[in-house]
Amino acid sequence: MAEPSAGSSRELSAAPARLVVLVSGSGTNLQALLDACADPAYGAEVVAVGADRPGIEGLARAERAGIATYVLPVKDFASREEWDAALMETTAGHAPDLVVSAGFMKLLGPSFLARFGGRTINTHPALSPAFPGTRGPADALEYGVKVSGCTLFVVDEGVDTGAIVAQTAVPVEDDDTVETLHERIKVAERAMLVDTVGRMVREGFAVEGRRVRIGR
Ligand code: GAR
Repeated sequence: MAEPSAGSSRELSAAPARLVVLVSGSGTNLQALLDACADPAYGAEVVAVGADRPGIEGLARAERAGIATYVLPVKDFASREEWDAALMETTAGHAPDLVVSAGFMKLLGPSFLARFGGRTINTHPALSPAFPGTRGPADALEYGVKVSGCTLFVVDEGVDTGAIVAQTAVPVEDDDTVETLHERIKVAERAMLVDTVGRMVREGFAVEGRRVRIGR
């Protein structure tokens, strides 16, 4: 078993854990976290929301909640590497304990992961290792699986390949469209995200190779 990776565990503390949430779209997972954080017993606060594009509902949700936002489109940078470094620096300015990629449709690069690896998690609308990428529900439907679901994992350099923190199975119905399946998955995904992030920040967690353990 590999040694626990640096930054992969969080000690218990009285102060709420600082979350930075990264979004690219409607932000319903972000909203679920915002709603959970309204209860001090949850143990976390969203201190900033970052996005790779302006004008999205995810940013509007943050603004309505009075939370700092930042937008870094890839096209505003000379290279992907410069974008990744800027995303890392801007995120670091908010001193997160945990970064939550929640519908953020960009791969995080080496600079970002050098700083936040082991404490950046991502939610994906499929049961990993099946159907990685941006078309999880569509690929599951096309394949004809009868069960799909959602996966919360610790981000690594691959595409949805990181160590798995939590998964929830969701049935695929005969008459599903991509939209109906994705919506059913998202209901389960929001519950999984809120429950798991809460336990991670309240109980601490450790990443040991591909195994993620919450609590002591
Ligand atoms: C979620 O289902 C999330 O898993 C997915 O985008 C949706 C965002 O919804 N992410 C990916 O597919 C990344 N591979 P939201 O903006 O309403 O939270």
